[in-house]
Amino acid sequence: MAARAGPGAAVAGAAVVALLSAALALYGPLNAVLQRARSLHEAHSIKDMDSTFQLVRNIIPALTAKKHKGQAGRIGVVGGCREYTGAPYFAAISALKVGADLAHVFCAREAAPVIKSYSPELIVHPVLDGPNAVLEMEKWLPRLHALVVGPGLGRDGPLLDSVKGILEASKARDIPVVVDALSGPVDSSDPHGSVLRLSQALGNVTVVQKGEHDLISDGQQVLTCNHEGSSRRCGGQGDLLSGSLGVMVHWALLTGPEKTNGSSPLLLAALGACSLTRQCNHQAFQKHGRSTTTTDMIAEVGTAFSTLFET
Ligand SMILES: *[C@@H]1O[C@H](CO)[C@@H](O)[C@H](O)[C@H]1NC(C)=O
Ligand SMILES: *[C@@H]1O[C@H](CO)[C@@H](O)[C@H](O)[C@H]1NC(C)=O
Repeated sequence: MAARAGPGAAVAGAAVVALLSAALALYGPLNAVLQRARSLHEAHSIKDMDSTFQLVRNIIPALTAKKHKGQAGRIGVVGGCREYTGAPYFAAISALKVGADLAHVFCAREAAPVIKSYSPELIVHPVLDGPNAVLEMEKWLPRLHALVVGPGLGRDGPLLDSVKGILEASKARDIPVVVDALSGPVDSSDPHGSVLRLSQALGNVTVVQKGEHDLISDGQQVLTCNHEGSSRRCGGQGDLLSGSLGVMVHWALLTGPEKTNGSSPLLLAALGACSLTRQCNHQAFQKHGRSTTTTDMIAEVGTAFSTLFET
């Protein structure tokens, strides 16, 4: 594979959703696969997308008094180093705003006080650059429903080694993982085909390629999310996506097949999170125009969520 696949490749086969900011280049004219991608894509026309979106609504759990704290999701965000503290904060706070009960951040020591100072609502563990990062993390894994790996990780070698260990430990425990920050060259002539093939090359890991339209593939189907957002893109928007995806993946995997009608839970979760992020962007842009930032978008999560999923 030509592109840098990042840690995602290490966990192929588990319940993993990889987020990309750009797609992989073509690696060979796989015509049969291409044809299949096209026909599947065409099958998901606007009308079908409406019924698929109905299935997304089915994964949203009802708010009931019977549930105890933790059932709507305990989400872990792995990321945050000296240089980057905003990304893990945005991902974790988004997970809470979307409906998780608890959000943990596992970050490098120096990042912890900074992330704590942004919010009293997050539980912050300064373990990622310690000598026992993987062991420390393994203590928490049984209490987590999903992991979001990547926001604000930086490129420090030892940190990334720990992350690889954490991904393997999560896979061993069947904990679903959202991996952020894969990237590679775009093949603009065939974006659907390339996202499909990337998913297959990673062992049918669900892949979300962010862009003008978001493309989502599980190696079999390609869904397009072209829900209206705005022309404003701000740094941190992808972290809102990864945090909400962490929660929705957990919900989707809890949902029985009678409600998902045979669709892949991870595809539905990805469609839900992409739509929500775009709706937040749309609403924030209505109010703030050019000055829209991720903080403005996060403030819209509640109403955007109701508009999309509860009407
Ligand atoms: C459920 O799946 C069947 C068979 O693929 C399809 O005909 C039907 O429209 C689907 N229903 C919904 C609500 O998506
Ligand atoms: C991925 O999905 C494709 C299409 O269904 C299938 O042909 C292929 O064997 C799958 N690969 C893996 C590693 O499961």
